[in-house]
Amino acid sequence: MPLKTTATRGRPRLRSVLSLHGVSKSFGAVRALNSVNLEVRRGEVTALLGDNGAGKSTLVKVLSGVHPADAGELYFDDERVSITSPAEARELGIATVYQDLALCDNLDVVANLFLGQEHGHLTLAEEQMEGQARELLRQLSAKLPSLRAPVAGLSGGQRQTVAIARALVGDPSVVILDEPTAALGVEQTAEVLNLVEALRDRGLAVLIITHNMADVEAVADRAAVMRLGRDNGVFPIDSTTHEEILAAITGAMENAASTRAARRRSGGTGESST
Ligand SMILES: Nc1ncnc2c1ncn2[C@@H]1O[C@H](COP(=O)(O)OP(=O)(O)OP(=O)(O)O)[C@@H](O)[C@H]1O
Ligand SMILES: [Mg+2]
Repeated sequence: MPLKTTATRGRPRLRSVLSLHGVSKSFGAVRALNSVNLEVRRGEVTALLGDNGAGKSTLVKVLSGVHPADAGELYFDDERVSITSPAEARELGIATVYQDLALCDNLDVVANLFLGQEHGHLTLAEEQMEGQARELLRQLSAKLPSLRAPVAGLSGGQRQTVAIARALVGDPSVVILDEPTAALGVEQTAEVLNLVEALRDRGLAVLIITHNMADVEAVADRAAVMRLGRDNGVFPIDSTTHEEILAAITGAMENAASTRAARRRSGGTGESST
């Protein structure tokens, strides 16, 4: 029997690099994550959606080692792993760009890119770092006025660009972006979304948290929806309507995933297959 493959936006489905099975996390009496399953694949953009308090940031913190999971299993490249610290997440190849970006305003672009991971032992190999910075930004087709000006003078979109480029310095396979366009205008949002596509085209797995459905439509291959600490369905963007995703977010359908499955069984559009 031929292997059934699924296409997302014309690309073949790629192997999952990171998968979560039954991951839970509580803060005292608050069950922020309740047996969550999620798969993140190389060469794909997965949008993580959900209402305020749904558990998105907690999930990101589990994956980035800030708040290790209480229960459940994590697999990286099909191997069972535990992520108990940010250093462990980075070593595995999971890079996270937090919403506050954590840039040093008084330092220039190159210094920010290599902050904490400077080359050289006693003296910093400045020229080497600048060369690498230039090459990295070129690969991303990122536009910045100067690599040697303090980042304080950059626009919101440019700052996001620096933060994303910095995440790539350690050569990760998964990049997690927490609300990268939340504070940006139309043009800057478009630039950041171009960058997200550049990451995907490099074969990285991208997990992007967003409240913006336009962003989801523009760059995501799949939308993973969380609701009240549980996963409430994964939707291929090409064959899912806005309304279905919104219904999963708000809980308008009791279980959006099962409704969708029923629709597929009755012959409606499902995940496009090749
Ligand atoms: N450090 C913490 N201590 C106690 N409770 C927490 C902590 N972090 C998160 N929570 C709780 O866990 C639940 C999920 O929060 P989380 O921040 O993950 O949601 P979110 O989906 O990121 O929401 P938002 O869209 O508002 O950022 C909420 O009820 C929140 O109050
Ligand atoms: Mg959050």
